[in-house]
Amino acid sequence: MTAVPPPAPFAEPGAEPGRTIVDVRNLTLTYQAADHPVYALSDVSLSIAQGDFISLIGPSGCGKTTLMRVIADLEQPTGGTVLVNGMTPEQARLKRAYGYVFQAPALYPWRTVERNVTLPLEIMGIPRGERQTRAREQLERVGLAGFERKFPWQLSGGMQQRVSIARALAFNPDLLLMDEPFGALDEITRDHLNLQLTQLWRRTRKTCVFVTHSIAEAVFLSTRIVVMSPRPGRILDVIDCARDLPPERTLDIRESPEFQRIAHRVREGLMEGHSYDD
Ligand SMILES: Nc1ncnc2c1ncn2[C@@H]1O[C@H](COP(=O)(O)OP(=O)(O)O)[C@@H](O)[C@H]1O
Ligand SMILES: [Mg+2]
Repeated sequence: MTAVPPPAPFAEPGAEPGRTIVDVRNLTLTYQAADHPVYALSDVSLSIAQGDFISLIGPSGCGKTTLMRVIADLEQPTGGTVLVNGMTPEQARLKRAYGYVFQAPALYPWRTVERNVTLPLEIMGIPRGERQTRAREQLERVGLAGFERKFPWQLSGGMQQRVSIARALAFNPDLLLMDEPFGALDEITRDHLNLQLTQLWRRTRKTCVFVTHSIAEAVFLSTRIVVMSPRPGRILDVIDCARDLPPERTLDIRESPEFQRIAHRVREGLMEGHSYDD
């Protein structure tokens, strides 16, 4: 009898499921505002494994962006430690271990779509031909093949966000940080992009940290959801979605009882957190 071949690998070569990509320990951050300290994060500990899709959800001002900025070395913690791929955030930034997608697409209007995607590669000194190949690959991945020569203002908001995702993926980071990338989009566009993002994640198995205000979006996309309290942000609950939801997700899973149950638990967590008054 011939042996059954193993299933096709899920992840890209080099990916090792289970390896810790982000390790946050007892993180505290206090901003020194002009007249008083702002306690943004309080004792946050979180370990994110290779291939995880983590959503951070919590009320406005609870420190979600701050947490992402600390991971990206854009903010220095007051206490605690953060490791990205076993390195300090500064080392990880210098090694371009992560791509960052902001809430607004932040594209240069005078550059074509392709030249927006190649910008970080230019900064890295990658030769022109290779830059172009990589940009085209990534644009195809986000469903924008054929739009290379357009300018950002010729695209819809959803397409612009896809360009920024392609740009963040162009230098092949291990980690993708996305801060409310779809927050400003209408629901139908958001649904469409959620579907594309989950498919992209399944294909690449990049480790993703995603900030959202939408419970449905968090449940749909994530392997785990981190529910945060109002400021100072603490972790109230970490919900495993991968156990009850299939890795391959279509929009209709949102009607399933498992999906509803997880959404309910997220909502409960957020409501409990809200009784805290700051
Ligand atoms: N540079 C800063 N100086 C002072 N306070 C800040 C600064 N950045 C953010 N904050 C405050 O820290 C808190 C957390 O902010 P943020 O991380 O942006 O929250 P979120 O992304 O969850 O909405 C908020 O109260 C915000 O006003
Ligand atoms: Mg924010």
